[in-house]
Amino acid sequence: MDQDSLKLSVAQAALDVIQPQLESNTIIGIGTGSTANMFIDLLANAAHLFDGAVASSEASAERLRGHNIPVYDLNAVDRVAVYVDGADECNEALELIKGGGAALTREKIVAAVATEFICIADESKWVSVLGSFPLPVEVVPMARSHVAREIVKLGGDPVLREGVVTDNGNAILDVYNFPIAQPLATEAKINGIVGVVCNGLFALRPADRLLLGTTEGVRDIKR
Ligand code: A5P
Repeated sequence: MDQDSLKLSVAQAALDVIQPQLESNTIIGIGTGSTANMFIDLLANAAHLFDGAVASSEASAERLRGHNIPVYDLNAVDRVAVYVDGADECNEALELIKGGGAALTREKIVAAVATEFICIADESKWVSVLGSFPLPVEVVPMARSHVAREIVKLGGDPVLREGVVTDNGNAILDVYNFPIAQPLATEAKINGIVGVVCNGLFALRPADRLLLGTTEGVRDIKR
């Protein structure tokens, strides 16, 4: 089974999991990336069963609207029942690295609000120690050199993601050579650097459930 087939299998599994919960007033949080896109496309078939969505990026909002799924401003919404999104890496504690698509800040906000966070990923994302994937850090542009120097002190190699401006008007530093043995502590430490908007570690708010696409089928892992 190729990677796209595995992504499609978890997108379908997520729809199967949430479909019984959908009601006319349900708002769903929607992530960003190729796996989330597959979920959006499948969700279109169930659009009559729920109210609408909040999106973690302009790209996902546009895709949702393309399927005539209403997209709400998060501030206008009381409750997000479930957030469905992909990941760049995940471990057995359901801690994640996200932000490969530069949407990490909005992803973290929607995940924080959602009652349940379901991560959908193919088995290539499963790791024992987070950090082979370079950790994305969103920074206020004028602070990027300062933040980079502070990250070097923590042992990482930050590289500016050239030509990328986030939906929030900020820059991304990708931190290479940075194995993350203590995700909770590392997430908090990077958040403490002045000029950091958000980092792509999801340990303070990990996923609640991971649907992992493997060649043997979809593994359903709960925290
Ligand atoms: C977006 O910023 C990321 O957090 C994505 O969730 C992540 O990059 C996964 O993307 P794919 O589903 O395309 O692998």
